Amino acid sequence: MAEHVAVTTDEHGVATIRLDRAPVNALNPQVWSELGEAAITCSTDDGIAAVVLWGGPKVFAAGADIKAMNAMTFQELFASGGGLQEAVKALARIPKVMIAAINGYALGGGCELALTADFRYAADNAQLGQPEIKLGIIPGAGGTQRLTRLVGISKAKQMVYGGEFYAASDALAMGLVDEVLPPDEVYGAAVEAARGYAKGPFALRMAKKAIDEGVEMDLDSALRLETTLFTATFATDDRRIGMDSFVEHGPGQATFTRN
Ligand code: HXC
Repeated sequence: MAEHVAVTTDEHGVATIRLDRAPVNALNPQVWSELGEAAITCSTDDGIAAVVLWGGPKVFAAGADIKAMNAMTFQELFASGGGLQEAVKALARIPKVMIAAINGYALGGGCELALTADFRYAADNAQLGQPEIKLGIIPGAGGTQRLTRLVGISKAKQMVYGGEFYAASDALAMGLVDEVLPPDEVYGAAVEAARGYAKGPFALRMAKKAIDEGVEMDLDSALRLETTLFTATFATDDRRIGMDSFVEHGPGQATFTRN
């Protein structure tokens, strides 16, 4: 039974991965491992159609546990590094839409955690950043890579080289977050949006795969992947449901089965 990470699913098939390690949700090896387990649950449980990643109403996550890291030797860190990346990758590869709901700080590994989601909804008092440089280290869970792909090279360098915290409004302007909301509305808005995606067709999974895997490829290979996945949508019940519904009732009326 996980101590700091809970997965609960509502009646609409929306799972919440809730991180809970007071006072600031610092991410120690146990938490990363529990997040990895949560990712497997969300990926494999057919009753889960979309996911919200939340750190609770006060703080998303203030990053890797600096006190735990400070006590580690190079050899210990080297040995645990692979496991950590695997946990982060498992979250990023959940084949369902995931929204990070960010209240308070999302710093260092916390910001990197949010980057594993498809979208980030932030409270207007949220602060995001990659302050690792101030500790004499660099981001190690995607902050030099996913962040760069999301906001571009210059903005990523600004964040990583400077280590400053960015207000939600600045994060919105640079494309790091997608919505800025009053703090007590962030989680609800993320769940609401996730419920919308939970009603979507099986093809949402294919769209996610095409975009996330395609962006890592040269254009020709990525377009071939797109063609393969586009063609594969014709093997789904939802493609038939969607097209039949259009022909009989017009656009946007289909009720999908996620099959
Ligand atoms: C361990 C942390 C922590 C962290 C805060 N605390 N952040 N403990 N790891 N990342 C602890 C503090 O020591 C303190 O404990 C308590 O939480 C509250 O923090 P305060 O500093 O007193 O609160 P406040 O003044 O409100 O400032 C909050 C804060 C600040 C802005 C979040 O604590 C801060 O800057 N934290 C570090 C953020 C950071 O550098 N993150 C990157 C980590 S490196 P006590 O016991 O004194 O009450 C990283 C690498 C990822 O993430 C690479 C992946 C492997």
